[in-house]
Amino acid sequence: MLIFLLPLLLSLSASSHSHPLDPLTASEITTIRRVILSSASDQSFSFHYIGLDEPDKPALLSWRPSHAASLPRRAFVIARSDRQTHEILVDVSNRSIISNAIYRGAGYPILTAEEQTVAVELPSIYPPFLESIRKRGLDLAEVVCSTFSVGWFGEARRRRRRLLKILCFLAGETANYYVRPIEGVTIVVDLDKMEIVGYRDRAQIPVPKAEGTDYRAPAGKEKGKRKGGGVKPGVVVQPEGKGFEIEGHMVRWANWAFHLSFDVRAGTVISLASFYDAEKRSRRRVLHRGFVSELFVPYMDPTEDWYYKTFFDEGEFGVGLCASSLEPMADCPANAVFMDGCYAGGDGKPVVIKNVFCIFERYAGDVAWRHTEAGIPGQAITEVRPDVSLVVRMVCTNGNYDYVMDWEFKTTGSIKFGVSLTGILEVKATPYTHADQITSEQYGTLLADSTIAVYHDHFITYYLDVDVDGVNNSFVKSKLKTVHVTDGSTPRKSYWTVVKETADTEADAQVRLGSEPAELLIVNPNKKTKVGNIVGYQIIDHGGTAVSLLTEDDYPQMRARYSNKQVWVTAYNKSEKWASGLYVDQSTGDDNLATWSQKNRVIKNRDIVLWYTVGFHHIPCQEDFPLMPLLSGGFELRPFNFFESNPIIKTQPYRHLPSFNCTSNV
Ligand code: MN
Ligand code: CU
Repeated sequence: MLIFLLPLLLSLSASSHSHPLDPLTASEITTIRRVILSSASDQSFSFHYIGLDEPDKPALLSWRPSHAASLPRRAFVIARSDRQTHEILVDVSNRSIISNAIYRGAGYPILTAEEQTVAVELPSIYPPFLESIRKRGLDLAEVVCSTFSVGWFGEARRRRRRLLKILCFLAGETANYYVRPIEGVTIVVDLDKMEIVGYRDRAQIPVPKAEGTDYRAPAGKEKGKRKGGGVKPGVVVQPEGKGFEIEGHMVRWANWAFHLSFDVRAGTVISLASFYDAEKRSRRRVLHRGFVSELFVPYMDPTEDWYYKTFFDEGEFGVGLCASSLEPMADCPANAVFMDGCYAGGDGKPVVIKNVFCIFERYAGDVAWRHTEAGIPGQAITEVRPDVSLVVRMVCTNGNYDYVMDWEFKTTGSIKFGVSLTGILEVKATPYTHADQITSEQYGTLLADSTIAVYHDHFITYYLDVDVDGVNNSFVKSKLKTVHVTDGSTPRKSYWTVVKETADTEADAQVRLGSEPAELLIVNPNKKTKVGNIVGYQIIDHGGTAVSLLTEDDYPQMRARYSNKQVWVTAYNKSEKWASGLYVDQSTGDDNLATWSQKNRVIKNRDIVLWYTVGFHHIPCQEDFPLMPLLSGGFELRPFNFFESNPIIKTQPYRHLPSFNCTSNV
């Protein structure tokens, strides 16, 4: 009997946890691969993307956990075979192919990790490269090569191939090979042929030295000599345990509930974020679906070796594909819970990233609200509530750079989007050893002997299908206007007041922050508070508001035209997910957020999507070498007339907690 019961029990427990937005499981990915390969005569498919094709929004919104089996599981697959890009829709439940179309437009899919691994090995058996290494007197055993997308600079499509540039570096005594480029040597690989089709050894510039570049903790005799700046270790203690629950991919904490998923392109995907409003005794929707949609990183050196470095780290390399396994007690605090991610490798087989997410309650020692009242005779009143929030963290290590991406949910109803940059700068080798020697434009900062870090930008663009208290929302600019008083009715000569403008169409909702004093809101014009204010959420920047300074006719800017404004709002369209288009490698800018917005659709009282770009102009400085400390920015969606009053006014203060700082506990 046990033999028959066991599979039943397993399937029951699986369905009780399954949600239509759950990421594809390893077994589903295996099924998808089998279905595709068994239907194809050609078995040479390489899989560039396999992700959940989420159910259409109305079906999803009417879904309830009791309907577990009612929504079909579908996967969207981008695969290459015989130099062609296939878009395949697979019915995972029925193990069948729904459609298989060849994409003939511009651009190529995300590079697979496997093809990059093969490509970086090509130079080591390429005679001209071996000659370049020999004549520089370098040791081939110390050479490490890395991949760089080629971009698009106006080439006609018919002459284009799937190309990749390879640059090489010297490791040797340091792990930090990125700061030791073999400058002047550029290798071009045709990825479909997997062979070197271009080679240039332009100049011999000495490789910067290894000394002082390593970032690893010293070992051996040096161990213990460098301490952490006098900081003592610390851990978070939760005497009553964790305050959140994870069931499958649903996370519930305080008043929040949301679905957490992993996608090989986007990384973290948050869906169906809703807030339980204790006063209204109902769960209120805030964010239907959100993720980082693109990371655009253009460098500012226009010379032969560098001009093409205008990376789209998500569309070309995959934020999820580059996700790092998080280190317990280091990347995340002691009270964190970890979750794995799964994606399809280039061969279509499932690959697991251990600890791709961590989820933890943040006790930062901050105050949520407080007041001291000394004005009432005979009473000394101080009322304080500590701030606690829930963080979902992922780290994307895209070659040299690391991005720490946080989604922070607050008991006040806010969602904070944090992105931090760290890792290693892209540098070029130079003969200069002192800034005084430099007499011509170098497009960067001399950081160390023979090492220039090139100016660049980081633009991190978020897709946020906001559904504030329902699907139909509007975008409102609350403009602050100065009023001059000229009639002598008051001693004042001026004041400011608010003039609200609701955006009718997409053209009205493209905003460059700071161009005029205005507060930006997503509102639900169909819902009002008791006193009659329209419910909404405010968009607040928390630093990182740079916009692209490239000209509109510059090729990388054509591909990321949206990067000249921080805020765009579009009408919801299931296919418009990726700010720089579905196919980004060598894209030509004909499919991106800016082009969709040219349709100028109506966005007033409609299902709308907010696109927000966090931007940094990075002028490197010496503290960024040999590895830069975190530089953070982000923004917040904060309730604005969403609640009737401060939603955490009735929370209890902490009382009588045991102290864990006494030595007897250590
Ligand atoms: Mn929406
Ligand atoms: Cu940077």
